[in-house]
Amino acid sequence: MLGSGGLPVEPNPCRVTSGSDPSLHHAIAIDGPAASGKSTLAKRLAGKLGLIMVNSGAMYRAITWKTLREGIDPHDAAGVVAMLDRISIRCGDDGIGSTITIDGVDPGEQLRGEEVNANVSAVAAIPGVRRKLIGLQRGYLDRSSIVMEGRDIGSVVFPETPFKIYVDAAEHVRAARRGDEGQVDSIARRDALDSARATAPLVVAPGAVVLDTTDLDIDAAVDAAVAILRRQGFPVPD
Ligand code: DC
Repeated sequence: MLGSGGLPVEPNPCRVTSGSDPSLHHAIAIDGPAASGKSTLAKRLAGKLGLIMVNSGAMYRAITWKTLREGIDPHDAAGVVAMLDRISIRCGDDGIGSTITIDGVDPGEQLRGEEVNANVSAVAAIPGVRRKLIGLQRGYLDRSSIVMEGRDIGSVVFPETPFKIYVDAAEHVRAARRGDEGQVDSIARRDALDSARATAPLVVAPGAVVLDTTDLDIDAAVDAAVAILRRQGFPVPD
């Protein structure tokens, strides 16, 4: 099967069908660079609109975590892709947000560790990894309406959705936010790698509205995002 963006997509083992009609489900795509505030915004929007929040970055992080645990070089594309064939990746949700286990293990806080931060961009640049994860990401929409955040959600995963926001913030503000979270994370390096890669780089997707959160607190960012979604035709309740 050929997905949008020309990437062949594997069948989705995480597909779960519910009683509701998948053709009625909406995807809101929230993309942007590291620490731009997109996770917090996506969580708040999902809560307000009653949707499931899907953190696609956590999926790339989980594959990176497993790669490191297996002692595979994150730059060894063939080795990482061969590992994907051996492991069991289970994507689900807890009614609020996405969950992931690899071979039955939830990596939890290790997903945010320094080693994963330093290697996730290399793993995310591997086309075979993206192919696998894009299939799993699209599977979420079969089950429910979602807010999905990442780098290529509006450009590659759900290019047809009319609901797209690109969240940005000045680099010093983003670095300070990450520092406040107590994380060691070279966001400038990650952004450069994520934007320069050949497959599905970070871009402002066609149709996306840019939301600069440099001077906005989270409440103001949510209000601005809701106004954008209304303009894009999303049925936001009053
Ligand atoms: O959103 P995050 O910072 O947790 O994402 C971690 C990394 O995963 C990011 O540096 C690039 C990669 N990623 C990606 O390539 N595509 C996505 N849709 C989401 C994340």
